[in-house]
Amino acid sequence: MTVVWPGGTLGIIGGGQLARMMALEARRMGYRVAVLDPEPDGSAGQVADHAVQGAFDDVEAGDRLAVQADVVTLDTEHVPAPLLERIEATTPVRPSAAVMRVVQDRLEQRRFLEAIGAPQPRYAPFSDAQGFREATAAVGYPCVLKTRREGYDGKGQVRIGSEADLEGARRAVGRAPALVEAFVDFEKEISVLLARDLEGNVRFYPLAENTHRRHILHTSRVPARVPAALVAQAAELGARIAAALGHVGVMAVELFVTRDGRLLVNEIAPRPHNSGHYTFGACVTSQFEQHVRAVCGLPLGDPTLLRPAVMVNLLGDLWRAGEPDWGVVLRHPEARLHLYGKREARDGRKMGHVLVLDDDTDRAMALAEDILAQLDRPTAAPLPARRKRSATP
Ligand SMILES: Nc1ncnc2c1ncn2[C@@H]1O[C@H](COP(=O)(O)OP(=O)(O)OP(=O)(O)O)[C@@H](O)[C@H]1O
Ligand SMILES: [Mg+2]
Repeated sequence: MTVVWPGGTLGIIGGGQLARMMALEARRMGYRVAVLDPEPDGSAGQVADHAVQGAFDDVEAGDRLAVQADVVTLDTEHVPAPLLERIEATTPVRPSAAVMRVVQDRLEQRRFLEAIGAPQPRYAPFSDAQGFREATAAVGYPCVLKTRREGYDGKGQVRIGSEADLEGARRAVGRAPALVEAFVDFEKEISVLLARDLEGNVRFYPLAENTHRRHILHTSRVPARVPAALVAQAAELGARIAAALGHVGVMAVELFVTRDGRLLVNEIAPRPHNSGHYTFGACVTSQFEQHVRAVCGLPLGDPTLLRPAVMVNLLGDLWRAGEPDWGVVLRHPEARLHLYGKREARDGRKMGHVLVLDDDTDRAMALAEDILAQLDRPTAAPLPARRKRSATP
């Protein structure tokens, strides 16, 4: 099993914010970083040593990345498994193509979870109009239609309240292979974040309690306000999933807590996760360093939480009236600003996040929401005049 020591090169497929934060941590540790991404000068490309431009199914670009890298990892599950299998012939890919094959298809993922006895919402796959009716009848209303592949931030999903919604739902997702799953009237959403190394050792982060808006993660609060028994169950479930997959790296499992206190798996993310961004600033070892350690074959770092925290996402909507007034964040010493360097702000696009560290997470949440509300206001108090370069060296 290859160990890649600092000085070696980490290849990352996908150049978004996850890759950017992996690259920042990897470079701090003395690694070189090569990123494969369709976009030139993307979030991760800006902080990498080498950028390889190409689509995720561009075999030739995959080869160019493989030549430069000592180990390859991913910042998205939407990389075709055949490309990963080809790279695996010459360079270790962690997590492996086999893991990605299971996770990148929602139906395969649900079947895998069923096979290992993990609790999850009722679901039924279908392939044609007749099958769709049968699937919704089997699952019951309300339910959610989800495409098998390529979904993120709620894309490719439609809620179905009753039979009257069937046609519209099918039209909204087109003819793509899909499944129907029961809509869970959850009490809250949490995520378990862990890392698994090459030898199968596992380290857990504290659970995050998550809220979503428009199906996009809005806030994470850590530690989650759940009974100790649920924390233990979530950890056992996460470890069982990671071990059964043979996963190497960081993994998040998104969970619903039902009103009667049970856990159901929403989905598996075999990589650092948005709900784990708090670790970058609030834990001894961030999820990004931890992922780098795991995929490079190093011992895992200490995941201990140094301070309770709340993370709030900054979406592209905030840029509608131009660049937000960052003074709103920076005047609070307990708030940390993260921006991903994305050139174009689109509604719903993840552009950055703010982390608020405070022993009182209610107070942290109030400040995070207040900062967000102020950023959203074009009339926010102006910053002192900005200069290109400071007058004194
Ligand atoms: N079966 C369900 N019952 C209730 N709510 C659901 C269900 N499925 C999804 N949701 C809601 O929509 C959110 C996004 O769903 P999901 O995680 O499946 O989408 P996604 O597109 O894969 O998003 P991402 O990959 O960005 O997390 C969930 O976190 C949850 O709030
Ligand atoms: Mg999700």
